[in-house]
Amino acid sequence: DKFAVIMAGGSGTRLWPLSREVKPKQFININDGNCMLIQTIQRICEIVPADKCFIVTNKELLDITWNTVKDIIPYSNLLLEPEKKNTAACIAFATLLLKERFGEGIVCFIPADGYVKEHKPYKEAIELAFTVAEKNDDLVIIGIAPAYPATGYGYIQIDNENEAEKVLTVLRFIEKPDLETAKKLISTGEYLWNSGILAGSMDSIIRSLTEYLPEHYIKIYEAIKHVNEENGNTYIEKAYNEIQNISFDTGILEKCNNVYVVKGLFDWDDIGCIDALSKTMASDADGNAIKGEYLGVDTFNSVIVGEDKLIVTMSVDNLIVVSTKDVILVCPRNKAQDIKKVVEKLRGNG
Ligand code: GDD
Ligand code: MG
Repeated sequence: DKFAVIMAGGSGTRLWPLSREVKPKQFININDGNCMLIQTIQRICEIVPADKCFIVTNKELLDITWNTVKDIIPYSNLLLEPEKKNTAACIAFATLLLKERFGEGIVCFIPADGYVKEHKPYKEAIELAFTVAEKNDDLVIIGIAPAYPATGYGYIQIDNENEAEKVLTVLRFIEKPDLETAKKLISTGEYLWNSGILAGSMDSIIRSLTEYLPEHYIKIYEAIKHVNEENGNTYIEKAYNEIQNISFDTGILEKCNNVYVVKGLFDWDDIGCIDALSKTMASDADGNAIKGEYLGVDTFNSVIVGEDKLIVTMSVDNLIVVSTKDVILVCPRNKAQDIKKVVEKLRGNG
């Protein structure tokens, strides 16, 4: 059987103040429609039935997550981690729980913060990833032709001898390079962006865990045996407390030898900062991306997001202005990536 698991327990500080500790970015509405989480579920439900579609998140986000998805998937499909311990833990936890419940199957893990323009090529890529994962019993990731030298994504060097093929193999992974490196990687034509979408049989995922992150495997596996006991949660809390905070990319994919890549032929972005969000918003003739009530005079190339009051700008350009109930943010558009510094400062770490 095929299963889909949406990873929705991250934070996303660069979208502050639209994303907050209690309302991370997957709950932000995009394209004048539903939030990213719902749109992600709707896309994947075209391939995997809703009862086989799961969400991994943490206890703190349970209420907001359930309120958001309750009309689409059953409550028992919410898998709750005791804390945020990055994607390796998330993937290990979900795979081992599904293994326990269903025995076997192919699982596709999908980040909850992706923006996808065209559904058809997305669907085709995921279907192909399921097929390749099943046929080869190995891990498969979806790669995207890079549109610009992004520093917020992982890059995959592909074996492009069979350039025309949609299925390739990975030569090397490079997670979040600096701008210089990103430019170099792109100029070689040998790299794709890592979309973060991963498929594999339950057994191939477990195999990669036992090989590269055995602690994750053993601790979570042992803890899960107790899930149905009265104080079962304490076991999983302890396991999470003890395991390393590491992403699946760094902990496993970078070290694996045989990972397949399916080339996704769709326009894709991780809505990682407000500038990226702007491409999902309405725009005017002066290059401004606008959401909410707005009046601009001689304003150009700016991103304006108002949640509850009229925003007015005059004689400015390349600005970001975000107004929420309790915060107003104004900054140059080219500093969108740096907003995480503000969050660190607010948290008292900067
Ligand atoms: N349940 C759960 N638990 N989900 C998590 C956790 C966790 O501890 N940590 C992260 N996630 C979720 C996030 O909510 C997001 O949907 C997804 O996993 C990926 O995590 P991010 O934190 O957004 O990763 P990233 O964007 O910095 O980098 C990854 O994704 C990029 C593409 O979007 C990497 O895989 C990059 O290589 C890739 O390019
Ligand atoms: Mg992300």
